[in-house]
Amino acid sequence: MATENLTWHSTNVTRVDREKLLNQKSKLLWFTGLSGSGKSTVANALDKSLNESGKLTYLLDGDNVRCGINSDLGFSIEDRKENIRRIGEIGKLFIDGGILLLACFISPLKEDREIIRKTLGEDFVEIFVDCPLEECEKRDPKSLYKKARAGEIKNFTGITSPYEKPENPEITVHTDTQSIEECVESIKAYLGSDTTEEDHK
Ligand code: ADX
Repeated sequence: MATENLTWHSTNVTRVDREKLLNQKSKLLWFTGLSGSGKSTVANALDKSLNESGKLTYLLDGDNVRCGINSDLGFSIEDRKENIRRIGEIGKLFIDGGILLLACFISPLKEDREIIRKTLGEDFVEIFVDCPLEECEKRDPKSLYKKARAGEIKNFTGITSPYEKPENPEITVHTDTQSIEECVESIKAYLGSDTTEEDHK
C-alpha cells in the first residue's frame, strides 16, 4: 500500500475550533445532474446567498477543476471515478477547514457518489439538479450536446455515457419548472439552521 510507512499527524487546531471561529457548521453540498441541468447556476446563486448571510463558502465546479488539479483526466468511466474520488478527498479537507463547500459535478455514477456519502456521513448533502435530458439538450449552453450528437465528443453524459439518478437525495430541485430563486430557497429551507455552529452543542 502507498500509505504503508506514513503516520497521521493530529493538529492542535481542530475542525470544531474552526467552526466556532466561523460560527458555522461545515458541510459538503453535492450538486449532481446532467450537463446543462443548472448545477452551477443554482450553486452560484446559493453560494451568493450564503455568503451574504455571513457563511464562509467555497464553490468547486467540474469545468474549473478539470482546468487545474484534474486536468489529467478525461471522461471515461475510470477517469470520472478518479475525478469524483479526488473531489471527495478535497471535500474532506474543506469540511475539516470549517467551510461550507458547494461541489458541482455531473458525477453520473451512484456508486461514486455513495463512496463520498459513506465517508462523510451527515456532512454530505446530495442535491439532485433534475432536468429532463430534452430540456438540457435544448438549452445546450456550450453547444456540447450538438457536438455529441454529431459524434464530435465521445462518452457524453446522457447521450453516449450513462447518468444514474440519485435514489434518495436529500434535496431535489427541478430547474425546468422552478426558478433559480425557488431552487435556492428550497435548499436553504432544507439546511435550515443546520449550517450554524450551534448544532454542535
Ligand atoms: S464528471 O462526469 O466527471 O462528474 P464533470 O462535472 O467533472 O464531469 O465535468 C463535466 C463538464 O465537462 C460538463 O459540464 C462539460 O462542460 C464538460 N464536458 C466535456 N466533455 C464531456 C463529456 N464527454 N461528458 C460530460 N461532460 C463533458
